[in-house]
Amino acid sequence: MNVRAALESRRSCRSFLDRSLPSGLLDALVDRARRTPSAGNTQGVGFLVLEGSEQTAAYWGITLPERDRAAFPWPGLLLAPALVVVYADAGRYLERYAEPDKASTGLGGSDGDWPIPYWFVDAAFSAMALQLLAVDEGLGCCFFGLFGNEPAVARRFGVPEGQRAIGAVAIGHPAPDDQRPSASTGRGRRPLGDVLHRGHWGFPDVSPPDARQ
Ligand SMILES: Cc1cc2nc3c(=O)[nH]c(=O)nc-3n(C[C@H](O)[C@H](O)[C@H](O)COP(=O)(O)O)c2cc1C
Repeated sequence: MNVRAALESRRSCRSFLDRSLPSGLLDALVDRARRTPSAGNTQGVGFLVLEGSEQTAAYWGITLPERDRAAFPWPGLLLAPALVVVYADAGRYLERYAEPDKASTGLGGSDGDWPIPYWFVDAAFSAMALQLLAVDEGLGCCFFGLFGNEPAVARRFGVPEGQRAIGAVAIGHPAPDDQRPSASTGRGRRPLGDVLHRGHWGFPDVSPPDARQ
């Protein structure tokens, strides 16, 4: 599978088979996903890998209490044999940008100085790569947020202070019944002409007719 095919076939999978992944696969996927670009080559992305029902159940036990399960629209998501929580470490970026070759940026002091917090950008790149790599293995995946559960997850799994979870990627074999789309999916895709700004943002659409839909 090439990158284009992986991008075209990827979609958020929210129902998995109760089937484990080949031994060592997750480590290999993370090893590849960490090769994405990073600002200043800081490499401030971390991956909390939860594999097997004991570890994933511990995650769900924190983030989705039993009393809320009956109403949860995607029970098959809980069957995913692996969850990878992707972390961004701002502190590493402050240290890196205080080094001599980056000091002129003035970004080595406080995370509030950063116009764009690159630690989140880099973590998102790696999370995306992880999803495409999962698709490349013929697996399903879904990126989802931790919302208010981030501190409880950090406590349970010993995540050090300062690490920010940008989200989790569920990975596993897709279930045949994975047909219940989320309300978000139903929104459809914005037309290319809405998002592609050729030469100048906001001029009348001058894209070729086949790009207007
Ligand atoms: C930053 C981000 C947060 C998301 N959070 C959730 C989430 O909390 N729960 C969920 O089911 N899907 C979540 N999604 C998946 C989106 O709903 C999904 O990508 C979108 O509806 C498009 O569908 P597709 O991934 O199948 O193309 C999230 C995606 C992103 C990029």
